[in-house]
Amino acid sequence: MADRRNAVLENVEGPFFVDTTCIDCDTCRQLAPDTFGETGEFSFVKAQPADPCRERAALHALVACPTGSIGTSAKSGVAAAVRDFPLPLGAAVSYCGFNSPKSFGGNSYFVEHPGGNWLIDSPRFVEHLARRFAERGGLRYIFLTHRDDVADADKYAARFAATRIIHRLELAAQPKAEWVMDGFDPVELAPDFLAIPTPGHTRGHCALLHREFLFTGDHLWWSRNRGRLTASRDVCWYSWPEQVRSIARLKDYRFEWVLPGHGERAHFPADEMSSQMQRLMVALAA
Ligand SMILES: [Fe+2]
Repeated sequence: MADRRNAVLENVEGPFFVDTTCIDCDTCRQLAPDTFGETGEFSFVKAQPADPCRERAALHALVACPTGSIGTSAKSGVAAAVRDFPLPLGAAVSYCGFNSPKSFGGNSYFVEHPGGNWLIDSPRFVEHLARRFAERGGLRYIFLTHRDDVADADKYAARFAATRIIHRLELAAQPKAEWVMDGFDPVELAPDFLAIPTPGHTRGHCALLHREFLFTGDHLWWSRNRGRLTASRDVCWYSWPEQVRSIARLKDYRFEWVLPGHGERAHFPADEMSSQMQRLMVALAA
């Protein structure tokens, strides 16, 4: 629960505030960019929400914040904001919210599918989400892109008897995973679901392609500051040359969405996304 006595000094006056427990993970700025800014150390309220739409977005940020660092005196909307999660993105894909401090606020996603539902990386374990998943048929698979973003995958797996899928080189983060991938060739895990090894950020990092959705973990993401797709050498834990090669291999695939663990998501028509990937490759080669 955020504490106004510890509010970040830069917050503008009004109902919403961020306190100094903030870990500056960017979740709130992704969900409510008109409300939240960055001091360089923390997120802060740069402008109080000016209309109901922006207020709902700020409440979504409050719900998703991994450290409970956002507070508001306008509490009447919080329950409705909780009920909005998982937030639909497109087709049968939703953003889970309830980001976990265990993954430094990584994003996770829920995919409804006739062959069984999927969780991609894991949110905090909360009853609200577990009930929502149950209402929609539970979870059959939990795909873990890499070791950093497993959060409470074990708890969701236990609740739904779901199969956790992770690369062997990331297995230390989820040693009891039921399905362990080996090697560096793409693996069709199920119809419509292709695991694509993308070593670089970590050695066994994998992306997941589901129809027009590419779940990229921490391999690449959209940068709102640069206005393009990006990847970061600063948060590359294994091999930057490998990561660049892994990004280049993604040109063989068509997709419209980039849904990352950390960083902003992106959505373009497939040809435009292909151009965006090309722009990224040019930027990385510079
Ligand atoms: Fe990571």
